[in-house]
Amino acid sequence: MLPKRPRMENLRGPIANGPMQTRPLVALLDGRDCSIEMPILKDVATVAFCDAQSTSEIHEKVLNEAVGALMWHTIILTKEDLEKFKTLRIIVRIGSGVDNIDVKAAGELGIAVCNVPGYGVEEVADTTLCLILNLYRRTYWLANMVREGKKFTGPEQVREAAQGCARIRGDTLGIVGLGRIGSAVALRAKAFGFNVIFYDPYLPDGIEKSLGLTRVYTLQDLLFQSDCVSLHCTLNEHNHHLINEFTIKQMRPGAFLVNTARGGLVDDDSLATALKQGRIRAAALDVHENEPYNVFQGNFWIFKSAVLIPLNITNMYGNVNVRLTFSMMSLDSIWIRYHSDLFFEISMYLVIYIDFLSILSLFNHQALQCVHIVACTV
Ligand SMILES: NC(=O)c1ccc[n+]([C@@H]2O[C@H](COP(=O)([O-])OP(=O)(O)OC[C@H]3O[C@@H](n4cnc5c(N)ncnc54)[C@H](O)[C@@H]3O)[C@@H](O)[C@H]2O)c1
Repeated sequence: MLPKRPRMENLRGPIANGPMQTRPLVALLDGRDCSIEMPILKDVATVAFCDAQSTSEIHEKVLNEAVGALMWHTIILTKEDLEKFKTLRIIVRIGSGVDNIDVKAAGELGIAVCNVPGYGVEEVADTTLCLILNLYRRTYWLANMVREGKKFTGPEQVREAAQGCARIRGDTLGIVGLGRIGSAVALRAKAFGFNVIFYDPYLPDGIEKSLGLTRVYTLQDLLFQSDCVSLHCTLNEHNHHLINEFTIKQMRPGAFLVNTARGGLVDDDSLATALKQGRIRAAALDVHENEPYNVFQGNFWIFKSAVLIPLNITNMYGNVNVRLTFSMMSLDSIWIRYHSDLFFEISMYLVIYIDFLSILSLFNHQALQCVHIVACTV
């Protein structure tokens, strides 16, 4: 039998239990719309929304009493922020990236952090392809020309308007980070005739064979060989401003850049300079270092060669199934923590979660697979 795991110090004490206790408080930190979560959580928890962009805007009651927190990507929780929550036990990131939470500090404080890794994979991959195709085929600019009343009366005008359109077949698409979204983009891009290469130092050897891709072992190699670079890695302490003045110089002159991963991967100033010089022909970004993004304060609004869209508009708020999953995740975890003082292993969360879902028959198995606990110290 395995020795019992010792309880870590500094963990928060047991949550008061029993019929006389009030229901636990669950707060959506950075938003107002709890219309999907509320009906699911209402019988076991009190649900509040904070609509905050920093913890200084969060009401004392939430800081003192919230047991669970739901959050999108527009608030950052550093160690100092996490310490302000006196009773918090679980954070559910409504999305896949947890780069806006100090996960290590959360673990030390005994706060479980959950995310939903399968979130928006197909939508982000589709949007990425849409952006890449636009950069190559210039549909976005051509449509704008028509809207602005430009007349295409002869072959000369058509040729002139189409200037800059590039042929896809045979061009090399370089993917940085071949995770869930990166590989979904790779498979789609192959169908369009791209020669797809990737750089991901964390993947085991052989993955390139199963997907029929070409692997390169340095970022420099990838940048050197790619006509279009698409970023799909997670943002972490090692790759902030991965695309910067130095690495842009390693890119092919006139290459395209697409970023649908995280804004912090690209140094905006260097990209703006490269666009101005034409060193990067065009860029498409749906993520920005400072969200929500104000185009008029940013670097790119003067460039016709930059396509900017709000953080993957296609995947987020409309995806009811995913949002239901978040609520169920938090409901389930809070239910366990609140109604029992027992020590549960992470797997227990999932077992009960699956059981719970099957009773309600709300989800298929695929939805369950997307729930994941990134850090949990119970
Ligand atoms: N735009 C949106 O709305 C949206 C939605 C979901 C996810 N995302 C972002 O998309 C990115 C990919 O998400 P995912 O679900 O595919 O993540 P994932 O964890 O499945 O894949 C990320 C991959 O990046 C690799 N990686 C990490 N650091 C790297 C580096 N320095 N160089 C090369 N590879 C590196 C990892 O090994 C991993 O294989 C994340 O940044 C995520 O935050 C954006």
